[in-house]
Amino acid sequence: MERLKRWFEFNRWYLRRGRPPWDTGVSPPELLAFIAAHPPGRALDLGCGTGTNVVTLARHGWRVTGVDFAVKAIVEARRKARAAGVQADLRLGDVTQLDNLAGPFDLILDIGCFHGLPADGRSAYARNVKRLLAPSGTFLLYVMFKADAQSQRSGILEADLALFAPELALVARADGVDTARGRPSAWLTYRFSASVATMATAHGQDECSSAG
Ligand SMILES: C[S@@+](CC[C@H](N)C(=O)[O-])C[C@H]1O[C@@H](n2cnc3c(N)ncnc32)[C@H](O)[C@@H]1O
Repeated sequence: MERLKRWFEFNRWYLRRGRPPWDTGVSPPELLAFIAAHPPGRALDLGCGTGTNVVTLARHGWRVTGVDFAVKAIVEARRKARAAGVQADLRLGDVTQLDNLAGPFDLILDIGCFHGLPADGRSAYARNVKRLLAPSGTFLLYVMFKADAQSQRSGILEADLALFAPELALVARADGVDTARGRPSAWLTYRFSASVATMATAHGQDECSSAG
């Protein structure tokens, strides 16, 4: 029931005249910095909206899949990809039900989708991320927070981030305030705990050998 309500709300946002507040048409500096620091690979944008970030990634050589359950958003994303002359796999679907999607993805991106999911959807979502992320891949997540569990506003509690542990480890976090809504927010970067441990070991060995 909750899922249906959100599906209806998001579809209505895109059908209104004018753009929804998040649909700025501009990729955020956090994504651009990631692109600049990593070679292109396979990317998945969960809750891709009208495809701004799908197109940005594709323009930089990434093979991108975008998933959103809002019909008009996916239609617009396909139009933007065509207009930009890039290939992208843009799918109408639910990010909590991705059984027909195969990984691995070197980047899983989510700007503003996870924090709007109902509680039961969040667990399924986290399972999908762990299944689809490449062993050395990055999960880049932008979330807004809410003050308490009773609040009806979209947003997560800090405790919701535990859904990604222990398999995924938080390797970077930048807290801020969402510019459109004036609410606490954060950019979170996750990698598989095993790959973080391997990198730490390799780094330690490098230091030992260069010190010796
Ligand atoms: C705040 S918007 C952000 C859109 C896009 N990432 C951007 O930055 O422009 C959240 C998006 O997630 C989508 N969404 C929310 N719940 C979803 C679900 N369960 N499955 C697929 N898409 C979902 C909405 O339709 C909406 O496009």
